[in-house]
Amino acid sequence: MDPRSEVLLRQAELFQGSVLLAGLPADDLLGRLPDAHGWCWHAGDQAALDARFAERSHFGVNAPERAFDTAVVFLPKSKDLTDYILNALASRLAGRELYLVGEKRSGIEGAAKQLNPFGKPRKLDSARHCQLWQVTVATAPEAKSLESLAQTYELPLAEGPLKVISLPGVFSHGRLDRGSALLLEHLDKLPSGHLLDFGCGAGVLGAAVKRRYPHNQVTLLDVDAFAAASSRLTLAANGLEADVITGDGIDAAPMGLSAILSNPPFHVGVHTDYFATENLLRKAAKHLKNGGELRLVANSFLKYQPLIEEHLGVCAIKAEGQGFRIYRAKRG
Ligand SMILES: C[S@@+](CC[C@H](N)C(=O)[O-])C[C@H]1O[C@@H](n2cnc3c(N)ncnc32)[C@H](O)[C@@H]1O
Repeated sequence: MDPRSEVLLRQAELFQGSVLLAGLPADDLLGRLPDAHGWCWHAGDQAALDARFAERSHFGVNAPERAFDTAVVFLPKSKDLTDYILNALASRLAGRELYLVGEKRSGIEGAAKQLNPFGKPRKLDSARHCQLWQVTVATAPEAKSLESLAQTYELPLAEGPLKVISLPGVFSHGRLDRGSALLLEHLDKLPSGHLLDFGCGAGVLGAAVKRRYPHNQVTLLDVDAFAAASSRLTLAANGLEADVITGDGIDAAPMGLSAILSNPPFHVGVHTDYFATENLLRKAAKHLKNGGELRLVANSFLKYQPLIEEHLGVCAIKAEGQGFRIYRAKRG
């Protein structure tokens, strides 16, 4: 059981009614709170919740339409995303309770201040290195539309300017990451066919390759519903068509790919997690057709080359700069 769920269950009597659990972990909490429902934006957690508690968790960037009497927010890692989720739920909880739970090392103490606009927050519990906060929503805010929180920047690409639109919580919100910038400079000579942008975030790489190689089919994949929604906005803003899918890891990707491009994930929340990337490197060959290429950017200190060579083939360093490397390997 996630420690945040354990803290909720210390006060289980508060959560017996129709409670909405936003950003809930994929543990047994729904089993312990029979009238609770979830709102999830992580495709892997959603799949695990669906498998155990069918129809009990809603996936997406908007709060579920079903009514709820109270809501608990599991503190997201981004402050902007926390604001969006709290606002969306508080707008539907006039005179009722809104809770925020999170780990101390994730900054729950400071994040509790984000409850101030709705009433007087108070700390209900502190245990298992977590805190549980509660506010009675005295002033229900007007719900902000997600699009109004989007940030846009423009990239001057050789093929013309590319607009990138990112939503709260999405990697490198409102600006181009240095690693992604390096990869954008090295998109030449990609094999043509079906290209995948793995871990697409706001869709900058996928949109750039679609712009550059319009006859290729492009798929963008991310585990996070806010990233997928951002990618759709980015593609639409540039008049580009591509498939955007949510899924957990390379296993969710199509087969027969000509190229996989990625600035792969290596942090999940405050925990460092190489699993999704290592799994990508191990299984890329299965998803690439013969002659297909994996091209990725990573911090120079991350030692991906041996893993790529073990599972795919000879791996060259195509470029290096500002602490990043571009790796390139073909399926032989
Ligand atoms: C370093 S960011 C790169 C984002 C974007 N491609 C860019 O260049 O700005 C990595 C992305 O991988 C996504 N990600 C993390 N774990 C994943 C998983 N298991 N499956 C698919 N995507 C994942 C994250 O949500 C994040 O958007």
